Amino acid sequence: MGLEIFELKDKIAMVTGATRGLGEVSARALAGAGADIAVCGRSTDDLKRVTDEIRKLGRKSEGFFIDVISKPSVSEAVDRILETFGRIDILVNNAGVNFRVPVLEFPEEEWDRVINTNLKGYFLVAQAAVPQMLQNGYGKVINMSSILGAVGLPHQVAYASSKGGVDQMTKVMALEWAKQGVRVNAIAPTYFETELVTQIRNDPERFKFINDRTPMGRWGYLPELEGAVIFLASPASDFITGQTIYVDGGWTIW
Ligand SMILES: NC(=O)c1ccc[n+]([C@@H]2O[C@H](COP(=O)([O-])OP(=O)(O)OC[C@H]3O[C@@H](n4cnc5c(N)ncnc54)[C@H](OP(=O)(O)O)[C@@H]3O)[C@@H](O)[C@H]2O)c1
Repeated sequence: MGLEIFELKDKIAMVTGATRGLGEVSARALAGAGADIAVCGRSTDDLKRVTDEIRKLGRKSEGFFIDVISKPSVSEAVDRILETFGRIDILVNNAGVNFRVPVLEFPEEEWDRVINTNLKGYFLVAQAAVPQMLQNGYGKVINMSSILGAVGLPHQVAYASSKGGVDQMTKVMALEWAKQGVRVNAIAPTYFETELVTQIRNDPERFKFINDRTPMGRWGYLPELEGAVIFLASPASDFITGQTIYVDGGWTIW
């Protein structure tokens, strides 16, 4: 068997939070491996920018508004994707937010926003997109987790709780759908330079702490996420389900 086990030709991928950062990287990686892409997000300008870039790679792509914390918005987006593409073979649950203050100062509204986006959002999107995968007897769900699902860091109570939840959600979904052809796995990245972590990137002490804490001595480069995304979306990972793959320069080894 050759490299065709990583081929995504004729596959349709739905990627949430694809308007920038790791979602955009994931969408482009999947397109590069041959998939057509439903680019999902909230910013009309960025939806257009990313779909235009994917079309330049020779793939079909359309932008879809989605607010992952709203069930009606999620249902509408999935219905429109199915009308446009006919199927969703690959779902990348990726839209996420963070808020960083100590536990005792953490506002309830921010707890709700982080948990609802990062945890309930993944659940709502999977609930809407997976039934047709089960009917088709085939699907790949990739939940974007974080090293914070496994390790703790101060000031990230809602984010770490949400990502721990994503890892557990991944296992339960994987178990429920294992015999019906739908594989569910998570990717847990360390720090990659995106808008989500600008505040930390711009703080020399925190930036140094992350470099020092990482066995490989640095943050991830955006293209270094691509291999895990393509692998988990492709037939190469067909006998893998319920796992979390760490793309973290070794952070979680110790
Ligand atoms: N960057 C890292 O170092 C890192 C590390 C580990 C894990 N992650 C995870 O990777 C994922 C992507 O993070 P990122 O770093 O790429 O962040 P980012 O650059 O801030 O992008 C976040 C994306 O999520 C979208 N989004 C947020 N709330 C949404 C909502 N309610 N409905 C729909 N879309 C929404 C944003 O769209 P809008 O433009 O509409 O806000 C944006 O497209 C997250 O799950 C994050 O936890 C990131």
